[in-house]
Amino acid sequence: MTTPTIELKPSSSLTPAADRERILANPGFGRYFTDHMVTVRWTEGRGWHDAELVPYAPLSMDPANMTLHYAQTIFEGLKAYRRTDGTIATFRPEQNARRFQRSARRLAMPEVPEDLFLGAVDALVRQDGAWVPPAGEESLYIRPFMFATEVGLGVHPAGEFLFMVIASPAGAYFKGGVKPVSVWVSEDYVRAAPGGTGEAKAGGNYASSLLAQAEATARGCDQVVWLDGLERRYIEEMGTNNLFFVYGDRVVTPSFSGSLLAGVTRDSVLAIAADLGYEVAEERISLDDWRRASEDGSLTEVFGCGTAAVITPVGEVHSARGSWKVAGGESGEATMKIRSALLDIQTGAAPDTHGWMRPLD
Ligand code: COI
Repeated sequence: MTTPTIELKPSSSLTPAADRERILANPGFGRYFTDHMVTVRWTEGRGWHDAELVPYAPLSMDPANMTLHYAQTIFEGLKAYRRTDGTIATFRPEQNARRFQRSARRLAMPEVPEDLFLGAVDALVRQDGAWVPPAGEESLYIRPFMFATEVGLGVHPAGEFLFMVIASPAGAYFKGGVKPVSVWVSEDYVRAAPGGTGEAKAGGNYASSLLAQAEATARGCDQVVWLDGLERRYIEEMGTNNLFFVYGDRVVTPSFSGSLLAGVTRDSVLAIAADLGYEVAEERISLDDWRRASEDGSLTEVFGCGTAAVITPVGEVHSARGSWKVAGGESGEATMKIRSALLDIQTGAAPDTHGWMRPLD
């Protein structure tokens, strides 16, 4: 089956420039959407077809759409930056394309060919380039996603899917500068277990995380920290972020456990920390280790990383076993150095030594 090319059917009534500028002055996160979206259909036997860029609009859906009942849905998140030289580039979209394929396999969904995924992202960013905020940390957040469109209540892999891409301008996550977050370690709930869907970016993983996040909020914390699903001993992730632990000049992240999401930012931080001269490692880290190393001073910094917030320092830990501070509750030096180095590549302020940026043309 051949990969379809995307037919451009742009809108004849774009958001007026003045309204767009007003939105771009304070976009927040995920609140506003650009003028277009990409839709591509898949049906069993026929494969991918009807690839179109069309005006952004609501979808109409049968109440028995299988996704609404059984959550056969996956997504990705990546960003396009307007760089210091005025060009627009996306950050490592090939990585998102490959993870989207892995997620699709786990959820018994068809794989989107990498060139179709990249072509859809490029087409939307090119069409809605005016929505990429001016140079700096602000970006256009791109959300590819796929869901079942078959109608019926039988429980089986659907025979029809829709792959879509939408985009939303995103402000700098920390408006008044980077602030360390406090975390609540959840021992009652787990995000994922080996053999489950934790390695996939599946909508259901996020639904099942919400109660634990609400518990963290009720306890006055910003984020929830997940432990492993088997022993509830080892650190897995923080909210929707991967975690990093800094021991002086050693930068360590939890190793893959069969339930951890392989973050594109996680992979980028490992490379950048090595570039900056840190020794990097992927290891299991227990909650007890975290506490002990915070108390004896060997653990100097902890931070979370993800596409949306990029890098977030962790200042305080609260758990049923007690509370402690990390790095005196401040943003650490390694955290801020790695954060700047990553953002400099993304914004074009530093050379793209890893070939991570995909310029539009
Ligand atoms: C990210 O940090 O990039 C995420 O995955 C968050 C997103 C679900 C809003």
